Amino acid sequence: MARVFSAIQATGGLHLGNYLGAIKAWVDGQDEADCFYAIADLHALTIPKERGEVGAHTLELAKVLLACGLDVNRCTFFVQSHVREHSELAWLMQCVTSMGELNRMTQFKDKTQNRKFISAGLFTYPALQSADILLYDTDKVPVGEDQRQHIELARDTAERFNSRYGETFVLPVASIPRAAARVMDLQDPTSKMSKSAASEAGTIFLSDDPKAILKKFKRAVTDSESEVRFDFAEKPGVSNLLSILGAATGSDPASIASGYSQYGPLKVDAAEAVIEALAPIQARIAELDNDPSGVRAALKTGADKARKVAGVVVERAKTNIGLLVD
Ligand code: TYM
Repeated sequence: MARVFSAIQATGGLHLGNYLGAIKAWVDGQDEADCFYAIADLHALTIPKERGEVGAHTLELAKVLLACGLDVNRCTFFVQSHVREHSELAWLMQCVTSMGELNRMTQFKDKTQNRKFISAGLFTYPALQSADILLYDTDKVPVGEDQRQHIELARDTAERFNSRYGETFVLPVASIPRAAARVMDLQDPTSKMSKSAASEAGTIFLSDDPKAILKKFKRAVTDSESEVRFDFAEKPGVSNLLSILGAATGSDPASIASGYSQYGPLKVDAAEAVIEALAPIQARIAELDNDPSGVRAALKTGADKARKVAGVVVERAKTNIGLLVD
């Protein structure tokens, strides 16, 4: 059975981009592979946070991911910092990753803009991500398009490690969804949807109620024409709506376009499809609100399982490097 690994940062507010770009594939893939899914709380520390903030976001995010359908009987679901091997292998990966490679990461460039304090962790962040993936002998990494460059770096540095020290790591590949690989902001369809957008009007949060979702879609920025066509270069707003509708209903965005001659009905249909997809998740979030100890127990089970695999791989890496065994 193939091994799958993916992770999401422990920052507040899961949004529709996270869900359609990655989490939906995590949930759907649980029976098709041996899946390991983590909440990347160490990655969240690369941008300064208030004391206690990351822990609170981790618990909240765990609840939402369980509500989305992660099932601890069908996958290994855990918190990155609960498995020490992530930090340990991250150091080894930093030592086979070049400054030039890290400098080329577009996310580093994006995240440093207008920022006074740039942590060393933000720069070496991709090496920790490589460690996350390589620790589980991962074949496939389901992610949105924005993570492709990081997965390619994990593969390149794993290859370098293997050629320097002998066969150690499985070489991973990114698995990116056909529709909604890059969900765009509803107010600025040339930027990806994100929790740190200037205005919340362009971001659909998983916690948004149906009224808020409909309002955000109705106000979505399109263009001054009226033709409904799937063409991201010329018509980013309309194409984003088609892409969201396609991903939420399991259909092809380009073929849905022919069913519309105006933007209004497309906006309403996209909103309704999203409301329908999120309704069961929101109902389960409300149930899990009453069961915080169940969420913590789920994470503990996951960490115990993850440690067993990660421990073997990190020892293999140290042995192959030829560090003195204690
Ligand atoms: P993060 O937390 O930014 O995003 C989690 C997942 O959501 C996807 N995503 C999107 N997909 C489509 N459209 C969007 N607008 C959108 N925004 C986010 C991301 O591609 C991702 O799959 N560094 C990673 C977390 C991480 C990781 C890993 C991922 C840590 N270790 C190992 C894979 C493997 C991150 O910050 O994702």
